[in-house]
Amino acid sequence: MIPLVFVFLYELSFIISRRTYNAEDVKRLAVFSSRKGRLRISMKAKNRACHRGYVACFFRLFKITMLRMMSLLQLKSKNEIQRMQEAGELLAHCHSEIKKKIKPGVTTDEIEAFVESFLAEHGATAEQKGYQGYKYATCASVNDEICHGFPRSTPLKSGDIVTIDMVVNLNGWLADSAWSYAVGEISAEAQHLLRVTEEALYRGIKEARIGNRIGDIGYAIQTYAESEDLSVVRDFVGHGIGPTIHEEPQVPHYGISGKGLRLKEGMVLTIEPMLNIGDWRSKLDDNGWTARTEDGSLSAQYEHTIAITKGEPVILTAMEKSSQA
Ligand code: MF3
Ligand code: CO
Repeated sequence: MIPLVFVFLYELSFIISRRTYNAEDVKRLAVFSSRKGRLRISMKAKNRACHRGYVACFFRLFKITMLRMMSLLQLKSKNEIQRMQEAGELLAHCHSEIKKKIKPGVTTDEIEAFVESFLAEHGATAEQKGYQGYKYATCASVNDEICHGFPRSTPLKSGDIVTIDMVVNLNGWLADSAWSYAVGEISAEAQHLLRVTEEALYRGIKEARIGNRIGDIGYAIQTYAESEDLSVVRDFVGHGIGPTIHEEPQVPHYGISGKGLRLKEGMVLTIEPMLNIGDWRSKLDDNGWTARTEDGSLSAQYEHTIAITKGEPVILTAMEKSSQA
């Protein structure tokens, strides 16, 4: 309830502050009025503009405070991060088993069934199943599918790329990680896409440190991806995560360095760049879930759940203990 009130007030402040004048407007109004020789009107306009300027300032401060409070509510203790890491290690273990299974002829239905039994064996559950009506434990996105592809009975064939994404719930704490896999022999273009997308993830993770801002993560990913002639999907972003899948703040994989919310110790975020060979635009399938590239080009994704600590960012879903970041 309390967070809802914050969100409401935050939105309200945003609407109001957008309609008020800033310092530039105040100057312009004054100059405009005095040119016409109507000093009295000018003073009046100026006063009113100043008044609105103060209101804007107040609401901007209010907005920043609300954002701070909202992000504070989501900070995790060392113990909570430890529990998320346990979920993350199980998820990484599951991915390393999937990696062995990805071969021409295998179906994503089989991968789905494997994940369900693997998690059950280890006392965990698949958080995506039932999430907002989603029916499966995994998302399995093939070739031009960007994300939220459904597992299906069509066998994978040599040359395909497939992204398996899942969220593991272990004793109430979550971890989220996606990995793109090559099926058999893939083209040089597809290999390049996979290599750059994985590297883009680690470049983003490097920026996830105290004092940096959200925009620094997206900036690192976008500049690298575009320098390699790939595009960054805009319609899906990373997010805070904890006992629920999607928490504040959002983590875009594009952006401006030095902009956005400041990163704090105890934030747990997903960084999950989706890169396309062609244009960044996506379209949604009739199933209401699956997003694919508008131009039909290949898309890949790598995702880790990370924790911001005093030192290096900690990858909670690391495949091996010694991470690259
Ligand atoms: N793992 C996805 C993410 O990275 C969550 C998708 S929710 C689902 O945000 F229900 F679509 F699976
Ligand atoms: Co995910």
